[in-house]
Amino acid sequence: MKKLKIADGIFLLTMNVENILFEGIWEIANGVTLNSYIVQGEKTAIIDGVIGWDGVPETLYRNMEEIGVKPENIDYLIVNHMEPDHSGWISNFRKVKDDFTIICTDKAAKMVASFYNEDRIRIVKEGDTLDLGNGKVLSFHPVPNVHWPDTMYTYDSSTKTLFSCDMFGAFGRMGDHCFDDELTPEEADFFEAEGIRYYSNVMGTFTPSVKKAIEKAKTLEIKTIAPGHGPIYRKDPQKIIDAYLRFTRYAEGAGKNEVTILWGSMYGMTKKAVEFAEEVLKREGVRYNKLEMPLESESEMVADIFKSAGIIIAAPTYEYKLFPPVAEALNEVGRKRITGKAAFRFGSYGWSGGAEKELAEILERNKMNWDMIESVEFEGAPKEEDLARVEAGILQLLKKIEDKV
Ligand code: FEO
Repeated sequence: MKKLKIADGIFLLTMNVENILFEGIWEIANGVTLNSYIVQGEKTAIIDGVIGWDGVPETLYRNMEEIGVKPENIDYLIVNHMEPDHSGWISNFRKVKDDFTIICTDKAAKMVASFYNEDRIRIVKEGDTLDLGNGKVLSFHPVPNVHWPDTMYTYDSSTKTLFSCDMFGAFGRMGDHCFDDELTPEEADFFEAEGIRYYSNVMGTFTPSVKKAIEKAKTLEIKTIAPGHGPIYRKDPQKIIDAYLRFTRYAEGAGKNEVTILWGSMYGMTKKAVEFAEEVLKREGVRYNKLEMPLESESEMVADIFKSAGIIIAAPTYEYKLFPPVAEALNEVGRKRITGKAAFRFGSYGWSGGAEKELAEILERNKMNWDMIESVEFEGAPKEEDLARVEAGILQLLKKIEDKV
């Protein structure tokens, strides 16, 4: 766990967590940070105390002591969000100290009570404040449904610091550099990619609420954004706000100038056309991602489709339906409400089609509103004329994405 002073009276305690499935689902190949903040006036508050998945709150207590904060001197636990990556230590803390107050929204209060059997809670609403003394006055600003209903921002007006919890966060472990102005260009690119993966995996379904939360951030004068996951933005907080705004557009059909090929093949017939498609994309100078299902991680699959302006679905018919690993991937993308993408499908069939019908059902059921180019299906191996139709479809796709990047 690392400890850093980030502003007057404010400390960051952060740890990297690896080798877990985030939310029990998402593979985080590059880890994730869990960030806690200590705010000191005459009284002391901790925002989003974390223990990680090691289940050892003593690690947190020891690190508090190393910055001169005795756990028994903490007066307030500010729970910006009840999800246990931010609150999982509360029951243990009760053993250290009995007279503290939890500060949270009404929605979080219900869950704090049901998960941790806590009732010494002060419920806060928009604009409510907590005076810690010595000029440290925190205010609270609910931002519901980003991705749970309970979340709020905490804001310190004396340093203009926004504690944004999951908002403006990213996957990815932090090395020695925790602030935006310290990141090398490679580290900045890493956190852009990990931010996209985090947003698409965790928050994508809730894009309308994220937009409202971005608007709420704009009403506060912000010098520093201190999220619950990932780096702290003190040089250019607007950059991560703008990035999140861009991510909301990715969820609604915009994307980077790249194509993702989501593909699967039973006996290599569809694969032949995928290899041909790659040659066309290379010739046209288009960057592309290639995801073979079911071998690809779900986390990467969702992120690549989310960030790409164009999607190629390459999958055969299997038992009169779409090749199941690709169908499941598209269902997951639909659950994440990734809408409005420009897409093109091709694939092989043996004795009967059926893939196309199921693809249409998936798009319809999930209200994905994807802009589909007419599909290309071929019997058995792709012939020269089939590949010519694949090429024409790809060129149409590239034309369509010009308006989406
Ligand atoms: Fe970082 Fe929604 O938990």
